[in-house]
Amino acid sequence: MSDQQFDFAPRRGASAEWIAETIDAIMEQATLAEKVGMLSGRGFFQEFMADDRLWGARPYRAGSGIERLGVPPLWFTDGPRGVARGQSTCFPCTMARGATFDTDLEMRIGEAMGKEIRAQDCDLSGAVCINILRHPAWGRAQETYGEDPHHLGAMGTALGLGIQTQNVIATVKHFALNSMENARFKVDVQVGERALHEIYLPHFKTALDAGVATVMSAYNKYNGEYCGQHHGLLTDILRGEWGFSGFVHSDWVMGLYKPYAVAAGLDIENPEPQILGDKLIAAVEAGHVAPFVIDRACRNILRTQYRFACASDPLTEYPVELVAAPEHVALAREAAQKSVVLLENNGVLPLDRDKVRRIAVLGRLAALPNTGDMGSSRVRPPYVVTPIAALRTTLGPDAILSGDEDDIDAAVVAAREADVALVVAGYTAREEGEFIPGDITLGQESDRNGGRPAIGGDRLSLDLAAEQVALIEAVAATGTPVIVAIVAGSAVLVERWREQASAILQTFYAGMEGGNALADILFGDVSPSGRLPFTVARDASDYPHFDRNADAITYDYWHGYAKLARDGVEPRYPFGHGLSYTRFARRALRVSVSPDSLDISVTVANLGERAGDESILCYVRCPGGVERWPVALKAFSRVSLEPGEARTIAMTIKIDDLRYRDEHRHEWKLESGEYQIHISGGVETDLKASVRL
Ligand code: BGC
Repeated sequence: MSDQQFDFAPRRGASAEWIAETIDAIMEQATLAEKVGMLSGRGFFQEFMADDRLWGARPYRAGSGIERLGVPPLWFTDGPRGVARGQSTCFPCTMARGATFDTDLEMRIGEAMGKEIRAQDCDLSGAVCINILRHPAWGRAQETYGEDPHHLGAMGTALGLGIQTQNVIATVKHFALNSMENARFKVDVQVGERALHEIYLPHFKTALDAGVATVMSAYNKYNGEYCGQHHGLLTDILRGEWGFSGFVHSDWVMGLYKPYAVAAGLDIENPEPQILGDKLIAAVEAGHVAPFVIDRACRNILRTQYRFACASDPLTEYPVELVAAPEHVALAREAAQKSVVLLENNGVLPLDRDKVRRIAVLGRLAALPNTGDMGSSRVRPPYVVTPIAALRTTLGPDAILSGDEDDIDAAVVAAREADVALVVAGYTAREEGEFIPGDITLGQESDRNGGRPAIGGDRLSLDLAAEQVALIEAVAATGTPVIVAIVAGSAVLVERWREQASAILQTFYAGMEGGNALADILFGDVSPSGRLPFTVARDASDYPHFDRNADAITYDYWHGYAKLARDGVEPRYPFGHGLSYTRFARRALRVSVSPDSLDISVTVANLGERAGDESILCYVRCPGGVERWPVALKAFSRVSLEPGEARTIAMTIKIDDLRYRDEHRHEWKLESGEYQIHISGGVETDLKASVRL
C-alpha cells in the first residue's frame, strides 16, 4: 500500500470542506516515515554547496511534504529587506522602515515582497523579524523595527499580512528573546514572567492574533531550555494561552537538539533532518514520543499549508517580471525617503539648488553599495544607488568633489572648494549584522570555508570609527558646513562630534534607492519625516548590560526609553525624535472610553510652507500602583499634510493592551485608576488627557 500513488495536491479555489477531507485522507494514507519526513527540510546542505554557497540561489524545502501523496514541500525564502533570492527589490532595512511609523507603507512592501516571492517559486517567507531591540549593539538590530513592543507588533503585522495577500505564508521570528547575535546559539536568556509577557512577547501575539500564520523559533535558550524545544514557550504560551493553530518551524541549523522538540510544540526542523528524521522515528518506535505528537505536527503543517495553497490568488499569474518591477523599486524609494530621520539641523538643510554649486561628498560609505548585512537577510538587487552616484545625477558630475577617511588631507581640500560637505559615516556588514564566522560549518564537517575572515556580529562600539570622527572634525575645521549622514542599523552615539555638524541625518541601510532618497531629502524635494524607533543615549552606560559572549544574561523589565526615563537620564535623542522642514501643531485631543477600548482623536495641522508627513505617537501613563514603564507607546498614526492643512486623526487603544501580567496568578489584570494619554512626536509630551478605568 505504501507505494500506491495519490494526488492530494492543493488546488486553488478548493473549499474548506475539501481541504479538511483531503488532510484526513493524507493522514490516513501516510506512513510514519512519510509523516516524519514532512517535519524537516531536506537537501539544503548539498544544494547550498552545489550553488557555491550562494544563499537564495534556489527555494529551500522547509518541511518536505509527501511526494507519493502529492503533498508539496514548503518552499522557503528569507529576507526582511526584500526577497533573499534572485535579483529582488532591496528595500531599506527593517529598522529604517520602523522609522517610517507607516503601517500602510509596510503593508504595501509586504504585498510587493509577496509577489516577488511567488514569482520566484516560494511560498513561505522569513521576512517578519520582530525581536525587541534591547541594546543598540545587537548585530541584527537592522532586521527588526525598534525597541518598543507596540510599534513592533503593528509594523510586523503589516508586513506579514501584506506578504500573505499573495498567499505566501509569513512567519514571525525569532520566537523568542533573540536580541543578541554572537552568543545566539548558546546564550541562556533569563527572564521573569512580567518582562516576558509585557515586553518580549506581546508583539508576537499581536501579529499572530491578526493572522500572521506561522512562527520561527529562536536559537537561544529561555530560562535554561532552547527555544526550539521549549514546552512552556511553544505549547503552554503559544498554543495554550494564545490559541495559535499554525505551525512552528525552527531557525536554520542548530535550532533544536533533541527529538522531544516535537512533543514540546515544534513542528518542523530546518533545513535538514538532523535531530528529527530517523532519530524521531526511533524515538516513536521506542515509545519515547507518542504517535499522536507526530500526527498533531503534520496536521498543524497541512492545515496552514493547504489554507494558503488552496486560496484564490489576487493575480492570475506571477511572472518573473514582477521581481524588482518598477513599481516595487518606486516603493523602495518611497520607503527610503520616509525613513530618513533628521536628527539635527541648524538651518543648512534643505539645500538650495540655485545656491549650492559644489558639494564635497566624503567618506568611504558615500560610494559604497551598502544595503546591510551579508547574512540570511542579504538581498541582491539589480543595482544600488549610492549617495555619491545620486548626487552626481542630481547636480551633474562636475559639482561633486570627493574624498574619504583614507586621505583626510585630500578630503579637506575638497571641503574647502565646496559650498557644503556631506560626510557619510557609519557601518557595513563587517561591523554589524548576522555573524558569519570564517569557518562556517553549517553543522557539516565537510563544509568549512577555510579561513575567510569573520564578519558581522554584535557591534564592538556604539561610536563612529575614529577615522570617521577625524574626517568630520577636519572637514568642520575648514568652515564649510558639514552634514553627517549616519548609516547604521540602530543607535550611534554622537557626543564626540555632534557640535561640529550643521545637520545630522540617520539614513540606516537605505536599500537600492537609498542614494536617490537621500538626495531628495537634502534638496527638500521631500521633507524628512522619519522618527527614531529607538533611543539614542548620550553615553553607552545608559543602555542595559550587554555582553556579546554571554553564556547567560538577564533581560529585565527595563530598556530603551523606559529605562532612561526610570533612571532620570536625558537621552541625546528620544524615541520618536525626528525633525522636519515644516512645522506641525497638534490640538483638540479627545479621549472617550468604550467597553473594550480608548478612542482617541487629535487634530494635526501643518503650519509651515512645505508639504510634510507627521507621525503622531500616543503614550499612556498607567495609574502607578503597580510598577510600569513611566510612559508606554500604545498607538501611533501618520498623516501627510499640505501647507496650511489640518486633519483629525483617530487612534484606538485596546483596554487589553493596558493590562499588566500578574506573575503570581499568571494572568492579566487591569489596574483601576487614572490613565494619562500623552500625544507627542517624541517622548516630551505636548498634549495630555486622562481617563479613569
Ligand atoms: C537566521 C534566520 C533565517 C534563517 C534562514 C538563520 O541563520 O537566524 O533569521 O531566517 O537563517 O535564512
